Formats: sequence, C-alpha cells, structure tokens
Amino acid sequence: MIETISKPVITLSHANQENPAYVFGRDVSAGLNSSPKRLSSVYFYDGKGSRIFEQICDLDEYYLTRKETEILRKSAHDIIGSLQHNTHLIELGSGSSTKTRILLEAALAQFTRTRYSPIDVSSEMLTKSVNELSRRYPQLQIEAVADLYEKGLENILRSEDTPVCIMWLGSSIGNLSRQEASEFLLHVRSDLDADDSVLLGIDLRKDASILEPAYDDAAGVTAAFNLNLLDRINREVGGHFRTEKFHHQAVYNVVEGRIEMYLVSEIDQEVRIDKLDTNIHLNKNEKILTEYSYKYSQSEIINLAHSSGFQLQKQWLDESGWFSLNYFKTK
Ligand code: AVJ
Repeated sequence: MIETISKPVITLSHANQENPAYVFGRDVSAGLNSSPKRLSSVYFYDGKGSRIFEQICDLDEYYLTRKETEILRKSAHDIIGSLQHNTHLIELGSGSSTKTRILLEAALAQFTRTRYSPIDVSSEMLTKSVNELSRRYPQLQIEAVADLYEKGLENILRSEDTPVCIMWLGSSIGNLSRQEASEFLLHVRSDLDADDSVLLGIDLRKDASILEPAYDDAAGVTAAFNLNLLDRINREVGGHFRTEKFHHQAVYNVVEGRIEMYLVSEIDQEVRIDKLDTNIHLNKNEKILTEYSYKYSQSEIINLAHSSGFQLQKQWLDESGWFSLNYFKTK
C-alpha cells in the first residue's frame, strides 16, 4: 500500500472581519454601561485566558473534560463506525487536540481516507494544533480554516459533496442560550445535505453540589480565569480595575439549568477606562455577569435536535451519566 503524506492546508479567510480591538472596546463599553452589567464570555480567551482554561480542564472539580475523554476513549470506534465511510470531519474550535486525537485515530483506523478540517478564529491556535497533528499523523488530510464558525463552514461546505460530520465538543454550546443554540444549529443545518451529521458534546443537568465546585474550584483557577477579564480590559483598553477589589462567584440557577458566573465588586468604586473615555461606577456587591453555561436534560437535548432540523440518532454517556456525546442526523 502506498502511504500518502499530505501537507496541511490552512486557509485564512477572516480578512473581512471588523477590527477586533475596536469591537472589544465597543462591547466592553456597552456591557459595563448597561444594567445589569455584563461582559461577554467570548473575551475570556486571550493568550493568558486560554492558558488558564487549559488548567481548568485539568482540575479535579472540572469533570467535563475528563468525562468527555472517557466517552471518547470507550466509544470512538463506535462513533466513527456510525458515520458513512470516509466522512469529512469538521471541528468547530481547533480543540484540545487530546480529545480530537482519539476520534482521529479511530477514523484513521477505519477510513481509507481521513479528512479533517478544524475551524477556529484564532489563526495562531489553529496553526499550532494543525502542525502538531500533521507531524503526528502524516496520512491525515488537514484543510484548516481560520474564520468565524459560520463563515468557515460556508467556505468548506460550498465545494463539498462527500458526507461531513461537524464536531462541536466540550459543551461549548453551553455558552449559548437555548434559543441561540437552536438558531445556530438551524443555520448549520441549512448548509448541510441529507448524509451529513453533527456530533455535539453537551454537559447534563445535575446537582448544584457537583456543578458549583466545577465552576468555583478550591485552588482558585476559575476565579483567576474570570478576573483575567478585568486585567484584559486594563491591558487592552487602558482600564484601571483593581482585581483585588472584586471576587469570583459561580451559582447554579436550577430553574434555567445554567451556571452563572459573576465578578462581584467588594466596595463602592469608580473605575476609569482611558481608551473608552468612560467611568464605570460599581456599588458595593454589584455584580458583572461574565458567563452562562447551560446544562441540558435528555428532553432538552431531544428538543434542541428537533427545533434545529435534526434527530438525535445516537447518544453516548460516561459511566456516571454526567456528560453526553450526541449524534444528530439531518431529518
Ligand atoms: C468552554 C464554555 C465549555 O462552560 O464549562 C469553564 C467555560 N467557564 N469554567 C464551560 C468555563 C468556567 C466552559 N466552556
């Protein structure tokens, strides 16, 4: 058999985006001048935030990564076996490559040709993980795209006639409201054909006594992750936040089925942000909402599939039933 060795192809297609520094400043200003105050969780992931997130994934309390990895280790062959032969694997987010690797290895073992296309806004992250993967798996055909998810997908799917599976792991969908999640998948669905599918990692509803420590660990790593948002504002738009005057809070809202993360002001204070030419007033105990992380019940997963034009075809759980991998087929 002839081994084909392919060089990874990386397409940078986000040339038409708005200036990211401008967008950040505009969002920060709008969020902190609104009531209640909020900052978007998309801004957690600057260089420092991304490194802290990697540490979160290794925490004892943060079970999500471990449980998802457990499912993949146990079921990767079953998952890949559920797909049509040689399905083109597309991943949203270039991912902690450890999890993706488990699936890619199963695909390389079962498919005669394995194509993998990660999509990520950060071309830096993308290049790094793609180079690593191509060194490790010379037979893997990588066509990566640096862009927003929707745009990257359109770009890949425009010229695609083999079946694709879109993988979105890690319960990243949890950052969207249930409505937004359904709308996003509906949009994805509109780009897909009958043979295509989605593989979604979704964290499940469970007791607050498990959820809250996962988002408020004893070592304070998640607190540092949350507080880094204020540091980022200081660094990038000339903020004067004193992080020691804030503390991290994570609460599980059982009714909404979501973790809510806040930065709580410990004192009555006024904070100047130079480059945004604004002063932010915070009362003692006033909260800034920084993240929602939605959890799903079985019926909420089924509803998500249905409301976005899919059917839940197969589902894999970890031993404790805390995390789910869901195979959505177009309906
Ligand atoms: C990356 C959105 C899946 O919600 O669990 C981890 C982010 N925030 N700890 C999550 C996060 C605090 C994470 N997601």
